[in-house]
Amino acid sequence: MINSKLPKIWYGGDYNPDQWPREIWQEDMRLFKLAHIDVASLPIFSWSLLQPEEERYEFGWLDEMLDLMAKNGVYACLATSTATHPAWMAHRYPDVLRVDFQGRKRRFGIRHNSCPNSPTYRYYSRRLASKLAERYKNHPALVAWHVSNEYGGSCYCENCTRAFRVWLQTRYGSLDEVNERWNTRFWGHTFYDWEEIVPPNILSEHLSESDPTRTAFQGISLDYQRFMSDSLLQCYIEEYQAIKEHTPDVMVTTNFMGTYKPLNYFAWAPYLDIISWDNYPSNKTDMSTIALRHDLMRGLKEGQPFMLMEQTPSTQNWQPHNGLKRPGVMRLWSYQAVAHGADTIMFFQLRRSRGACEKFHGAVISHAGHEHTRVFRECAELGKELVELGDALLDSRIHARVALLFDWENWWALEFSSGPTVDLKYLPQIEKYYRACWNQNIPVDLISPAMDMDKYDIVIAPVAYLLQPGYAEKVEEFVSQGGTFLTTFFSGIVDDNDRAVLGGYPGELRKVTGIWAEEIDALFPDMRNAIVISEAFPELAGNHVVGLMCDLIHAETAEVVGTYATDFYAGRPALTRNRFGQGWAWYVASDPEQGFVDRLVRYLCSEKGITPILETPVGIEVTERHKDGQTFTFVLNHNADSIEIDLGTDRFRDLLTGKELTGKVKLGGRDLLILRLQA
Ligand code: GLA
Ligand code: ZN
Repeated sequence: MINSKLPKIWYGGDYNPDQWPREIWQEDMRLFKLAHIDVASLPIFSWSLLQPEEERYEFGWLDEMLDLMAKNGVYACLATSTATHPAWMAHRYPDVLRVDFQGRKRRFGIRHNSCPNSPTYRYYSRRLASKLAERYKNHPALVAWHVSNEYGGSCYCENCTRAFRVWLQTRYGSLDEVNERWNTRFWGHTFYDWEEIVPPNILSEHLSESDPTRTAFQGISLDYQRFMSDSLLQCYIEEYQAIKEHTPDVMVTTNFMGTYKPLNYFAWAPYLDIISWDNYPSNKTDMSTIALRHDLMRGLKEGQPFMLMEQTPSTQNWQPHNGLKRPGVMRLWSYQAVAHGADTIMFFQLRRSRGACEKFHGAVISHAGHEHTRVFRECAELGKELVELGDALLDSRIHARVALLFDWENWWALEFSSGPTVDLKYLPQIEKYYRACWNQNIPVDLISPAMDMDKYDIVIAPVAYLLQPGYAEKVEEFVSQGGTFLTTFFSGIVDDNDRAVLGGYPGELRKVTGIWAEEIDALFPDMRNAIVISEAFPELAGNHVVGLMCDLIHAETAEVVGTYATDFYAGRPALTRNRFGQGWAWYVASDPEQGFVDRLVRYLCSEKGITPILETPVGIEVTERHKDGQTFTFVLNHNADSIEIDLGTDRFRDLLTGKELTGKVKLGGRDLLILRLQA
């Protein structure tokens, strides 16, 4: 459990006292108390203060701060500060500086700026993590470790080039194998010496400065993506190990970013004790998309609760337009995270910086510096509520019977693909099928291709373009045992090196889906087709508009559920299902509008007896968390206005107000209920 030392939903966030004089520290403690803040993440970006010179470390100010926190009941999510190297280090050891996608050697600046394969960076980051862990291992304030910050980006320097070759040798053994996997006979790319291999960027295989997905060699680019994710992971692992030598029992994390493309978080997750992530939607982000990101983060460790490490209390600074969170939204979105499995609610940032690019980023304490602001009041009210909630919800779990396949490698490969259309993107497809469940209050787990499918009734795998080795067999096993599997157009196209399958798409999924795809039509943005549903399926009846891409498929053993309405392939199958053992495998050969995806998913769920947690009006989100035989139902009203909800005949107690509720209840705009079923 995350919160054993402090058994409540932790409340706090990133704190940068090193940017402020001592008087402010005292004032901060007073304000934290008023807001019921009990955890601060620090020091996130203080390497240059902690190690002002190569052989000199300065921990005095941090000792003082941590003591002050301990005295005031504020715990530390202690950060290792390695997300920005000191300027002196860049000056003395230029190998810490990255080379960018354009091939330019960077100079000192910004953050998240270290080459992950720099020996200097590896050595000094490990050393700092180790010194911090040794120094604070018994500090009463310590509750968790926060390694670096938001790992990301990429580097194309000489160190990375050399490390890439070693990575390839380890993965493939021989250069012949690399040539084979990358299909290098194309355009005469055969390599005869490891030294000939260079990173794929704008100086080599890439075709566009502005669109880094445009590559001439998918195999190389895909492997470099894997390699970069692994390189950054290695930096994390080295700090993790350094910390564990001193504090084996304190949990360690690093903050993720949800659907962040460059890092394969499923590959990272086993090395984190706990998942934590930073939730930064804009005011216009769809609620189901935020929910999806939470569920993805929960899925990384198969349902284990996660930390909401950062969110803004009010506004951001880095979006093109940084609207304020409207009154009530910060609270509502905080609980939305909890509703999806978070056991902490934390902010960036506790006090707003004075200078540089984040001075207009929201904070609990604004530049006004006192508690008499709307944002502070809202934060303090939420803080009080969390104290009252105590440990009631901690470590409770979500039970989903529907799973959605999410595969970073597929995402990379799909978007590196040259053709059939630039409009095909992975996330919108995932979001569409996720939203179909979300719209109906049906819980979903996000799973990787390596994870167990058997505990689910339905597995949905949108645009499973790259099939991981062995995945199709798992699908066959799952379906033959009675599972429902749904996949879509442009699936089963390539292997894990982006080499096209031979013998007909969807390759290894051909048997289970009972179809094969002969051609793929990419539609112009203004073109549409439709799926005409056969009379045998009244639940799905109608002509349903589709766009983007149309697979021209042949039903082999599959039953045709719908056919294309127009074009030269009118009348050919567009939606099929195949009986395979005890189960069904569905193939959606094109990209329907949301409304039809909703209906299709509802139909599949009803066949499995999966019903909504609660039938609710639009804009109401419902989830459930379970523990010790109890069920907690979250009912979140994302609408600005109040609305009536029907809770049915069960009797509930609302944990937030203590009220007993049943039947029709009125829920205020942006308000929520956390209901415990009464015996
Ligand atoms: C990220 C970082 C923080 C801060 C916020 C601003 O999540 O981790 O340091 O820059 O963004 O939104
Ligand atoms: Zn590098």
